[in-house]
Amino acid sequence: MTVSHRLASYGTSIFTEMTRLANEKGAINLSQGFPDFNGPAFVRSAAIDAINAGHNQYARMSGVPPLNQALAQRWRRLTGQIIDPDTQVSVTNGCTEGIAATCLGLLNEGDEVIIFEPYYDSYKPCIEMCGAKAIVLTLAAPEFALDHAALQRAVTSRTRAILVNTPHNPTGKVFSRDELTFIAELCNRNDLVAITDEVYEHLVFEGEHVRLATLPGMKDRTITLSSVGKTFSLTGWKIGWAIASPDLSRCVRSGRQFLSYSVATPLQHGAAEAVSAGQEYLDGFLRDYRRRRDLLCDALEEIGFVVYRPAGTYFVLADHTPFGFPDDRAFCMHLVDRIGVAAIPPTPFYDNVEHGRRLVRFAFCKRLETLHAAIERLRGLRR
Ligand SMILES: Cc1ncc(COP(=O)(O)O)c(C=O)c1O
Repeated sequence: MTVSHRLASYGTSIFTEMTRLANEKGAINLSQGFPDFNGPAFVRSAAIDAINAGHNQYARMSGVPPLNQALAQRWRRLTGQIIDPDTQVSVTNGCTEGIAATCLGLLNEGDEVIIFEPYYDSYKPCIEMCGAKAIVLTLAAPEFALDHAALQRAVTSRTRAILVNTPHNPTGKVFSRDELTFIAELCNRNDLVAITDEVYEHLVFEGEHVRLATLPGMKDRTITLSSVGKTFSLTGWKIGWAIASPDLSRCVRSGRQFLSYSVATPLQHGAAEAVSAGQEYLDGFLRDYRRRRDLLCDALEEIGFVVYRPAGTYFVLADHTPFGFPDDRAFCMHLVDRIGVAAIPPTPFYDNVEHGRRLVRFAFCKRLETLHAAIERLRGLRR
């Protein structure tokens, strides 16, 4: 028995592999992006209350009404746009299912979707599972800037969509207003759909988070995906959503109904409390993360890495070549085996792997004491 042709080349995800190695070797896990602390008590209590109140059966396919309503209100607060919670908000099992449902509901065989590398690892397989093709453009170090000319050249008569992740994992790049305006103009001119992955929307340290859906002409041609995982430190809940015009929402829902159909009911009630959180929560969240970012980045620089300090997200890319290893995998294997820290070698996020060989990705969604302990071990690289 063999894995299907479309998926065979993907093998086991690097996150599974590095987390398994971290556990096996007792390494501090700065690889996979999940916090080692709990989400806020008011959100957890709301989910527990929902269980005890009997919200335990299948939910409506598009989401429980209180969550759809809370998401529509939140969207209005963030963008000024008024949307219909019943036809324009679709709850998904995390952003990851939102990506899969969007691809399944939108793409036909032979369509092309432009994505940027390094990419989140589900984009390409999801596009390919639909018989469509990912056209990959590189965001190259040190600036990770959008190559406007390359993007323009990549648009063909087969292009259906451009998928943009901002703030961007793993580079920490926050797409600028100019870059997004260029993408918006291309979408409008060529009648393309924009798919945005904004799971790090509240983790912006430098610059501003611009929502593509708010740029001229984009409201009805953008599917905005996000989730509670990162912003509320609840990655295991897998509660996400897609916000789009009624027509594009129909596409997402037509994919979703044959994936998981519905999403965990009590957790949706918890998520409704989460997304109604005030600015005070979000300010505290960002402040804590800025401390974590600065602590880890300063230490990595001092240890001898070339650090690409992130403007957003909870990841940092660094250049490991001062330590003399041939590539990212060799470096990360040494790190987990001999230094006791797990990180991610980024080449699995690239088609053009030479761009990733020099790099290593660390996650800083960890308690300060975990980061201090990891830094202490990383100093061993100098010995
Ligand atoms: C860019 C990006 N998109 C999506 C996800 C997954 O989101 P969720 O857990 O809501 O499925 C991640 C998680 O690491 C991510 O980095």
